[in-house]
Amino acid sequence: MAENPIVPLRLGGLELANNLIQAPLAGFSSPPFRLLAWTFGRPGLLATEMISANALRQGSDSQERYLAKSPGEGPVMYQIWGADPGAVGFAAARVTERGAAAVDLNCGCPVRKVRAAGAGSKLLENPPLIGRLVRAMRKNTSLPLSIKIRLGPSGDHFNAVEIARIAEAEGADWLTVHGRHAREAYGTPCRHGEIRRVVEAARLPVIGNGDVRDGRGAREMFVRAGVAGAMIGRACLGAPWVFARVKAECAGGTWRPPVPAEVGEALLRHHDLLAGQLGPGLAIRQSRKLGAFYSKSLAGAREFRNRLNLCQARDELAELIRECFR
Ligand SMILES: Cc1cc2nc3c(=O)[nH]c(=O)nc-3n(C[C@H](O)[C@H](O)[C@H](O)COP(=O)(O)O)c2cc1C
Repeated sequence: MAENPIVPLRLGGLELANNLIQAPLAGFSSPPFRLLAWTFGRPGLLATEMISANALRQGSDSQERYLAKSPGEGPVMYQIWGADPGAVGFAAARVTERGAAAVDLNCGCPVRKVRAAGAGSKLLENPPLIGRLVRAMRKNTSLPLSIKIRLGPSGDHFNAVEIARIAEAEGADWLTVHGRHAREAYGTPCRHGEIRRVVEAARLPVIGNGDVRDGRGAREMFVRAGVAGAMIGRACLGAPWVFARVKAECAGGTWRPPVPAEVGEALLRHHDLLAGQLGPGLAIRQSRKLGAFYSKSLAGAREFRNRLNLCQARDELAELIRECFR
């Protein structure tokens, strides 16, 4: 049998129990989400959603929410977005005080608002600025530090290797490469070969990201791209056990997917944790969004979602889950 690619990993000063990392997911990777991923799947590292450096510096309450952690969750990498070295330096210091295990700079987000601020994937057009941002973060934290990039700003401009070298020179400890360029959407498959080019040219450890949802996908990432670790994003949505699945399948075992009642219980638990963090009103709204993911493979998913959208309170949600997840 092929060797198991899931192994412990050292990143900067961080000793991770395994080389699977939960991806930052805006609108999702809240403390409850991370606690469930940790409880069900024990990835080596968890991640916040992206946190605005400018908003943090301005003392915005909404960003404070992103700094919270759940008691009992594992090590958390805090991801910062911004394009102003002063602000990202400030943010790096702030998340360090708040108990981050590592700090990451977002250099891959394609969302218009983020790019308009010169941040996220827009930074790929300006590698020297990435260097200044990493330097500012390095000055303000002694935590392990990484950047998360895409392959380049566009299909005819692959500059991930140049960026890797700059980040390394400014004190980054590793980089995560999402195997698409900035203009590519999820319809284009992840380019393992181009991630490998970064792995081969960079001295820093490289984490590969893109399209990993099971053991086969993880193995493909490790074998084709030659990465030190794999980051998993969308496959965690509604499936906090994805890391357990990947581990079991990579070890050559079989994975027993949770039965519908277990999936329903996880959704209700997710809701209850959110209610503890955000209060009942916001929690029920978020649970409507989450329910769509948890019900992905449910027979009668459409009816469940239609009724979920009408749920106003926990009791109704609990009853609906009891009825539908059997
Ligand atoms: C809903 C959603 C939110 C995301 N938010 C972030 C984010 O805050 N920061 C980031 O670096 N990437 C973000 N991403 C990108 C993912 O981290 C990841 O790079 C991408 O989904 C590819 O990995 P996957 O194929 O495993 O999903 C987001 C993706 C999705 C679908």
